[in-house]
Amino acid sequence: MNNRRIALVTGAAKGIGRAIVERLIREDYFVVALDINAAGGEELVAAFGGENLSFEAVDVCNESEISALFSKMERLEVLVNNAGIIRDNMIWNMPAEDFDVVININLKGPWLLCKEAAVLMKRQNSGRIVNIASRAWLGNRGQTNYSASKAGVVGMTRALALELGKYNVCVNAVAPGLIDTPLTQNLEPAVLQKLIEAQPTRTMGKPEDVANVVAFLASPETRFITGQTIYVDGGKSIGAGW
Ligand SMILES: NC(=O)c1ccc[n+]([C@@H]2O[C@H](COP(=O)([O-])OP(=O)(O)OC[C@H]3O[C@@H](n4cnc5c(N)ncnc54)[C@H](O)[C@@H]3O)[C@@H](O)[C@H]2O)c1
Repeated sequence: MNNRRIALVTGAAKGIGRAIVERLIREDYFVVALDINAAGGEELVAAFGGENLSFEAVDVCNESEISALFSKMERLEVLVNNAGIIRDNMIWNMPAEDFDVVININLKGPWLLCKEAAVLMKRQNSGRIVNIASRAWLGNRGQTNYSASKAGVVGMTRALALELGKYNVCVNAVAPGLIDTPLTQNLEPAVLQKLIEAQPTRTMGKPEDVANVVAFLASPETRFITGQTIYVDGGKSIGAGW
């Protein structure tokens, strides 16, 4: 690891997280990859090599495991809060447990990691935090739980940017739209087709499209950008249009 910049990426085993890992390694970061999927973690180490990456089988909601992980870290240049889940349903069919689990993983988890990273980055007087929100924070039918969790991520990002600004720590969010990952591959084909047709670009994004923006926000060149939410959504957030 030596003098290389260190980035911690959650939900690293697949989808957008994996693309972020790959991109940051290309930028010469040493990546601490965190995921509950231990098999996926082993595969990451095999793919990218122990000299570029270490894997932590940790649940983002597990406060004691997260503080144990941070107690081993002397510095951290970049935190990427990417782990997230969906449990979609109309509110009248949604069990309260599906609200709790989505809020816990998508919002409380990032908050726990931000809290630990804030202590470390404040002390080192530098850092970047990138939180993966979603365009869905603006509202999506069937996603009262998910939209609320991601709106929380946007709000948390803004508040934390205010708290950490004077310590040279920038905190921003990326709001992806429809991205081709295992998460969206589980959607019914007819639903997916409709969603693609509703995109101004008429295409899905790729995990790399998100990873590119994360790499930009992570870089030292973005010291004057904080508290922002950058959409990577093929224009969907603009609203209705022909
Ligand atoms: N795919 C999309 O279209 C899309 C759109 C907008 C936002 N996002 C957001 O991007 C992020 C990544 O999404 P994705 O599509 O790559 O998802 P994915 O399901 O392909 O991958 C998510 C990863 O997070 C891990 N994970 C889940 N719960 C965890 C936990 N409690 N602790 C640690 N790791 C956990 C999973 O094991 C998995 O490796 C999520 O926050 C998601 O909400 C995705």
